[in-house]
Amino acid sequence: MSQPEHAVAVSSLTKTYPASGKRGPKLALDGVDLAIPRGSLFGLLGPNGAGKSTLINILAGLVLKTSGHATVWGIDIDKDPRRARGAIGVVPQELNLDPFFTPRQLLDLHGGLYGVPKAERRTAEILEAVGLTPQADAYARALSGGMRRRLLVAKAMVHRPPVLVLDEPTAGVDVELRRQLWTYVRRLNDEGVTILLTTHYLEEAEELCDRIAIINHGRLVANDTTAALVSRLDTKMLELTVDRDLQAPPAALARLGATFAGPRRIVVHYRPSLTPVAQILAAAAEDGLAIHDLSTVESDLEDIFLQLTRKPDAAD
Ligand SMILES: Nc1ncnc2c1ncn2[C@@H]1O[C@H](COP(=O)(O)OP(=O)(O)O)[C@@H](O)[C@H]1O
Ligand SMILES: [Mg+2]
Repeated sequence: MSQPEHAVAVSSLTKTYPASGKRGPKLALDGVDLAIPRGSLFGLLGPNGAGKSTLINILAGLVLKTSGHATVWGIDIDKDPRRARGAIGVVPQELNLDPFFTPRQLLDLHGGLYGVPKAERRTAEILEAVGLTPQADAYARALSGGMRRRLLVAKAMVHRPPVLVLDEPTAGVDVELRRQLWTYVRRLNDEGVTILLTTHYLEEAEELCDRIAIINHGRLVANDTTAALVSRLDTKMLELTVDRDLQAPPAALARLGATFAGPRRIVVHYRPSLTPVAQILAAAAEDGLAIHDLSTVESDLEDIFLQLTRKPDAAD
């Protein structure tokens, strides 16, 4: 297969789900432009209902787009839907497995569906890679949630697609299994598979992905390298409760941009990469304040969306 510059590219992609019952039509994707470089480990980050699964399901041929263009591995999903589907493997958000198949049967069956010749099937190898060799002949219904998730990854990789999509793969997966899953995903990526991961956890995208796009209400609000994005999002809030009522912001804290949240409560928004907490505490000491209590708050996704969608002239 020739090597496209972008593993996935969508332009002006729009999806409106039709009205049904009392529910009106729903605009789930609103003119999304997105290009995912070949070989990347790409994170699509957004809160519930942002449109992540809709985008993925359009790429996988499971949902029909309303308008716009999409290619997978350079193949237009309208012009050659079969080949486009063959270039992508999707690990769905839901754990939908037939309980009466064993992992080995399921992978063989799926390989057959995709027309992978018997001699080229790597069932044993894939099962080994996802740590399911001991369960190869157990019924799916006997597998734990984490094992089912890994079986779905295996299923998505059966036809060796160059693009693997994982839709919120760690929902309900414990820490240990998440590690295993990430190890396997990184290995596939090292072998050249382009990975598209959706999540609503910033930390997850940050830990794993080299690029992150953020989607909110069906619109793309950011698309950058992880390092660049995280530095833009690098804000925390420190709240101090001090030992006495204050009339004006004390000088040293004021220089760090402190504001009042109450007579004894001071709030400082700061960038951890520029201002260590110790520096804020030193400023409080310089102001002669004793600290009774303190707490820090990470900016959450909603704050981040507000920051990213704020007009540039209002920034900082
Ligand atoms: N089949 C559907 N019919 C109607 N609305 C839908 C359907 N699937 C998703 N939606 C709506 O479209 C929006 C985007 O959903 P989805 O793509 O699943 O978001 P995400 O995966 O980011 O949580 C949500 O408001 C959701 O309720
Ligand atoms: Mg989803």
